[in-house]
Amino acid sequence: MQRSLAVAMALSLGLGMSALRAEEAAKPDAAKVGKGQQVYAAQHCSMCHSVAGKGNPKNPLDDVGSKMTADEVKKYIVNPKAVKPDSKMKAYSSLAADDLDALVAYLQTLTKKSS
Ligand code: HEC
Repeated sequence: MQRSLAVAMALSLGLGMSALRAEEAAKPDAAKVGKGQQVYAAQHCSMCHSVAGKGNPKNPLDDVGSKMTADEVKKYIVNPKAVKPDSKMKAYSSLAADDLDALVAYLQTLTKKSS
């Protein structure tokens, strides 16, 4: 009796852990998004933008993930004037490609639905 209980517990623990791993595998971008968040902070985007009420409330980015595609966001960051000729935004044309990709991945997670 005692023994089968222990086996059952070990089994469910194992199942729980593999479920956790499956969940992580379903979100392969988690590390990328985390890195993108760091790039966002390091580049001081929040001087002009806010996310979830933090930063400059003039230009919220809270729903940018549903308003713009990844390509559009990327183009905007690298050369805003190419998208909006009278853009006030600084061009981030010298970001490393993987930093830019991570930043775009992060911005894609920003939707009204997710918050
Ligand atoms: C000097 C202020 C400033 C900084 C710094 C800045 N932005 Fe912007 N950004 C703006 C303004 C103002 C707009 C709105 C339209 C325009 O003037 O381009 C904008 C628009 C955008 C848009 C398009 C959003 C939309 O709804 O049209 C994206 C995406 C964006 N910024 C991302 C970023 C990211 C990412 C960073 C940091 C790497 C950043 N911005 C840094 C001022 C800034």
